[in-house]
Amino acid sequence: MDFSIKPIDAKTGLAAVKTGCLAVGVFEDKKLSQAAKELDRHGEISAALKSGDISGKPGTTLLLRGVAGGAAERILLVGLGKSEPLAEKNFASAVQAITRVFATLGATEGAIALPFEEVKSRDAAWSVRAAVLAVRDAAYRFDTTKSQKEPAQSGIRKVTFLASGASAPAARTAAAQAVAIANGMDLTKDLGNLPSNICTPSYLADTARRLAKEFGFGIEVLDRKQLEALKMGSFLSVTKGSEEPPKFIVLKHTGGKTKDAPVVLVGKGITFDTGGISLKPGANMDEMKYDMCGAASVLGTFRAIGELGLKMNVVGVIPTCENMPSGRASKPGDIVTSMSGQTIEILNTDAEGRLILCDALTYAERFKPAAVVDIATLTGACVTALGHHNTGLFTRHDEAHDALANALLAAGKATGDTAWRMPIEDAYQEQLKSNFADMANIGGPPGGSITAACFLERYTRKYTWAHLDIAGTAWKSGAAKGATGRPVPLLTTFLLDCANGKSAAKQAA
Ligand code: BES
Ligand code: MN
Ligand code: ZN
Repeated sequence: MDFSIKPIDAKTGLAAVKTGCLAVGVFEDKKLSQAAKELDRHGEISAALKSGDISGKPGTTLLLRGVAGGAAERILLVGLGKSEPLAEKNFASAVQAITRVFATLGATEGAIALPFEEVKSRDAAWSVRAAVLAVRDAAYRFDTTKSQKEPAQSGIRKVTFLASGASAPAARTAAAQAVAIANGMDLTKDLGNLPSNICTPSYLADTARRLAKEFGFGIEVLDRKQLEALKMGSFLSVTKGSEEPPKFIVLKHTGGKTKDAPVVLVGKGITFDTGGISLKPGANMDEMKYDMCGAASVLGTFRAIGELGLKMNVVGVIPTCENMPSGRASKPGDIVTSMSGQTIEILNTDAEGRLILCDALTYAERFKPAAVVDIATLTGACVTALGHHNTGLFTRHDEAHDALANALLAAGKATGDTAWRMPIEDAYQEQLKSNFADMANIGGPPGGSITAACFLERYTRKYTWAHLDIAGTAWKSGAAKGATGRPVPLLTTFLLDCANGKSAAKQAA
């Protein structure tokens, strides 16, 4: 899918636009949008509304051919709901409806002239970004593991957004960013959707190497021997039961000055989580192939910032392995020593994400980071708390961390990839008490996502840090089962904001 932005010619207007299909909005109260009015010189559009052929309810559509008021071959009317104010949700429904119709047309080029500037509390850049992301999300297919490939996409493949001359430059930047984000999300989805017998730790490492080559990132992949030398006893305890060799991937994007402190992204890369000796129940265990979506979102974000040539330093750190039961696997009660020197009693081998992340978080200290953000499908408890809409966001509660949290929340809001802040308080830390080691790796059922975050917090006291629990947002279950590509939009936008000096995170750092 190809996107471009064209300023509307102030003299000739939309009537002169030649394209296979021109999509314009109509409202529920039988009102035409400004764009629709411009094409209504012969009254065909108002007649269609009057006849009741289209209600104007959000997402309704009516395709007209041979409209004399415009040069386009087809005019697609799309419902936007109530005109004032134009709700975000209704704008999104309209874009989705346009995408559906565009895919079925006998034309290859189309244009969209929605009221991009009029969405409530949003600007044209937001609207264009949302539209590109929606179109690309709808266009995503995963058929690499099917013998019959899906037929190549039909219908419209080149979409032009028609914006006012004033908002065209900002819209152009927004479209380029959205395309990069969508490309990153596609990679994240592909990796998430691939089964664990294909998407192994070595496969993730190869993917990182491929990205490094394409975009000029620095890359290092550490193997078991090097991890032993680093004394990553916690990470290594998780990989013990598996035949697949563990990998520790370090990616470096140096878009800033050499001495600029980087933002470090740390992604959980469990390519399959059986639970280990604390074995998970069988039902839906296949979904644990998604337990590397934190890692996949780091790689997807790197894909996006590489394409955008982000002017900032970013490091990606990915500990990746399988969590398997075997005669050599870790057992409940085992005590391991993490790279930080702190000892951990493994009371449940299924709480493995924190065990691989804690060593990666200690490793991150060497970059003297401006901020560290870890991303993990960490707890089922987070799904219980927040469902599938919001990613769980955890940080300490002080000024620097509030700034980082707010920057991440804002980036999520700007892209519809939202997060919700959860508390980390010392009171919860008590639940991690162990009689035999510095801490246990579980805190019992109450506040399970919070005690998991509290565990990680103990390894992040040397820098500003945030934790994103994406267990509920990284994939969908049920009929639409598959990876979502989240939180690539949140992370990429956060980094763009940092690079633009816009973000509170930059001040915090
Ligand atoms: N990968 C899971 C978390 C998970 C569960 C993600 C469901 C998505 C959906 C994680 O490794 C895990 O097993 N966590 C345990 C922790 C418990 C043993 C304290 C959980 O959530 O049950
Ligand atoms: Mn687990
Ligand atoms: Zn897991």
